[in-house]
Amino acid sequence: MSRLERFGHGGDRWTAEEMLGGRADSFLDFSANINPLGPPPQVVRQLRESLAEEGLPLLSRYPDPDCRSLRRALASRHQVPEDWIVVGNGGAELIDLVNEAFQPRRVGIVTPSFSEYEASARKRGQTLITVEAGEERGYQPLEAELVDMVRSVDLVYLGQPNNPTGLLLPSDQLVRLAEEAVRQNTVLAVDEAFLDFVADGDRYSLIPRIGQFPTAVVLRSMTKFYALPGIRLGYGVAAPDWIRRIREKQVPWSVNGLAQIAGEAALADRSFEGKTRDWLAAERPYLLEALQEMDGLEPVSGAVNYLLLRLEGGASSVEPPSVHLQREMGKRGVLIRDCSTYPGLDGRYIRVAIRGREENERLLAVLREAMADQGRSRV
Ligand SMILES: Cc1ncc(COP(=O)(O)O)c(C=O)c1O
Repeated sequence: MSRLERFGHGGDRWTAEEMLGGRADSFLDFSANINPLGPPPQVVRQLRESLAEEGLPLLSRYPDPDCRSLRRALASRHQVPEDWIVVGNGGAELIDLVNEAFQPRRVGIVTPSFSEYEASARKRGQTLITVEAGEERGYQPLEAELVDMVRSVDLVYLGQPNNPTGLLLPSDQLVRLAEEAVRQNTVLAVDEAFLDFVADGDRYSLIPRIGQFPTAVVLRSMTKFYALPGIRLGYGVAAPDWIRRIREKQVPWSVNGLAQIAGEAALADRSFEGKTRDWLAAERPYLLEALQEMDGLEPVSGAVNYLLLRLEGGASSVEPPSVHLQREMGKRGVLIRDCSTYPGLDGRYIRVAIRGREENERLLAVLREAMADQGRSRV
């Protein structure tokens, strides 16, 4: 079956154009979870200035292979020494690099969770151990099962918050797991790609306590919160010997010069953070409430800038309801994420990003229309 997530992820306007018609640029994209306020104005300004001032040298010279200036800014942001940081070509590169650096035989993941954790293990033929966090568990993994997993594998990937559920692990649970990982010498890769969206994110982050956990690696993305997915930028925080091991496996200059400039400018624009949190504090409850009031679906109340929705009713015999709904909405110009391919979910699940008010209203209108059509086509 041809899918919009042919390459594994949302945000693929080009596949949407091929499958649905319409121009790639014309879709309103709720399938990738990108901050609609960004990129921060300072990033655009700084990139323009850097190109104008330096002109060709910025493009014709190699970027700093050590990302010194950006690492300095990140170290200052997180109050850790610079040699505790590795910068990467998006969180996606770092997810894979962690696997490459530590060569686990057995990898533990929660289902559902971001597909690149599983992909990194599958392509290396590693044994995969899973812990369920589906509907029957209230979309949260049981702590006892997580602890068992930490004891029985060499590397665990954990989303904090998890994607696509948007749920956070309580911080005391995360700390207990990290302690167990140290005892077991298990690598604990905590993916905090979306944690910047959480107002009191530091409470849920392992970064402020990273010094206590020599087997933990925290992975961060700068592409969601700062809306820079086209430029590719992420970083990892861990003890220096582990950072060294990760960097040994990294391709030289994997972080290009424009990305390094953009990252530093993004971190400097502190007002952007406040504006983003204000926007989300207004739009998340608005969209959640509107979706809760709609017949035929049930949202999972996550903590971040996207919502997992469970569609009620039986699956159509021809195709999963999520696929059908995605196509119907796509034909109306709105892209959503079909979650039927996530292990632990099925064809009743979709995920939508949270965007600006007008766009959210359009999402709701198109969703209502497509669901009404879907209902009619079933009778
Ligand atoms: C949970 C999670 N982690 C990491 C990533 C990778 O993000 P990027 O490579 O754009 O930084 C994504 C992208 O969708 C994600 O959802």
